Amino acid sequence: MSLQQIRLFGDPVLVTPAAPVVDFDKELRKLVQDLTDTMIDAPGAGLAAPQIGVSLRVFVWDVDEALGHLINPSLDLSEEEQDGDEGCLSFPSLSYPTKRAMRVVAKGWNMHGEPITVEGSELLARAIQHETDHLDGIVFIDRLDEQTRKIAMKDIRESDWFSESLVSGKTPTVKISPHKTFGKGF
Ligand code: NI
Repeated sequence: MSLQQIRLFGDPVLVTPAAPVVDFDKELRKLVQDLTDTMIDAPGAGLAAPQIGVSLRVFVWDVDEALGHLINPSLDLSEEEQDGDEGCLSFPSLSYPTKRAMRVVAKGWNMHGEPITVEGSELLARAIQHETDHLDGIVFIDRLDEQTRKIAMKDIRESDWFSESLVSGKTPTVKISPHKTFGKGF
């Protein structure tokens, strides 16, 4: 088990599109394990590789007591939408109402290089969309309506974790607080 530091908003890796996985090797299986361990420890409902500083198209989730992972995903979204609070482990303690598709069909590969299809609705669909966004360098505040986004930016500027990273002039790598981000940190 190897816990990794979760990168916080302000780290350039979070706004960089990640590269597709090419080698389904031992290193990839270790990455999936590290992501899973780090997500469970946080605790969170999902975690994408860029959030631990690895710019590859891999993410994991822990939704409805089921662990999963997906590599090089492509998504098919329902037209029907859902609305609900969403948070992110890279934005500790913050969550905002975020519109997402209600259902998703995600195609990709597992860590052994076998093609898989994951179908999810509600929270699983939300997690898969949130994590796939991370792989494209998109963070959830990009998905907020304009007014909520303004509030979020203000909250971020006023947060301890963000101001600490500005003062130190370093990329924020603070270990997050041990409470769940409303049970929905991804
Ligand atoms: Ni996230």
